[in-house]
Amino acid sequence: MSQANHPPQHVAIIMDGNGRWANERGLPRLAGHKAGGENIRPVVKAFADHGVRYLTLYAFSTENWNRARVEVAGLLGLLGRKIDQETQAFHQENIRLVHLGRLDRLSQRMRQKVKGAVELTKNNTGLTVCLAFDYGGRDEILQAARRIASAGIPGGSIDESAFARYLYSADIPDPDLLIRTGGESRLSNFLLWQAAYSELYFTPVLWPDFGPKDVQEALSEYRHRQRRFGRI
Ligand code: IPE
Ligand code: IPE
Ligand code: MG
Repeated sequence: MSQANHPPQHVAIIMDGNGRWANERGLPRLAGHKAGGENIRPVVKAFADHGVRYLTLYAFSTENWNRARVEVAGLLGLLGRKIDQETQAFHQENIRLVHLGRLDRLSQRMRQKVKGAVELTKNNTGLTVCLAFDYGGRDEILQAARRIASAGIPGGSIDESAFARYLYSADIPDPDLLIRTGGESRLSNFLLWQAAYSELYFTPVLWPDFGPKDVQEALSEYRHRQRRFGRI
């Protein structure tokens, strides 16, 4: 059955291409990240307007720590300011913010910002925005396995749905559509467990240029996909 009348319930996005966007303009990479950050709000709105209920944004991977120190510091600074600026607006729009990823490697200040935004919006009933930040799919699976082991739960009693409750995404449905901007065709450690049956959509458009028209194109491509989940 094609997806004709159903918007995806959950869209996950690998927001890639900020650095190249800046390069093309002769700007420092951080200017690309800034432009990328400014693109979040209109894209969130566009997906919400199309009936999407969950939006996951890959903002910083467990591997992104390996970039130059100035870039990492710049990215974390931008992200902290973004949380400061957008949390109230998200709250007023009834958006629930969820964090996927580690908190233990962030500064105390950053950790408080993330926790504060999640706490403030936790009872909101509109769109859920999951911020994947210091997130890695392998790390997520490993942390889940560790927590299950330290709770003393016998391995034999764990099935897929029980295991999934130990992931960062515990109460979030799997993504129906996974979009990667910036032209690469890979997952880069994003949602390895959850994307088992996601429809993948790769576009060359760089993240800061990804606009409402591109949102529509991705959703219209999704409508034509046949999802079989192993059946015929
Ligand atoms: C994506 O843009 C943002 C993050 C990874 C944090 P990049 O910085 O990877 O941009 P490109 O891929 O170098 O163009
Ligand atoms: C993926 O982009 C991570 C984010 C968008 C946050 P990268 O630019 O880090 O991925 P690779 O290194 O090209 O695979
Ligand atoms: Mg990249």
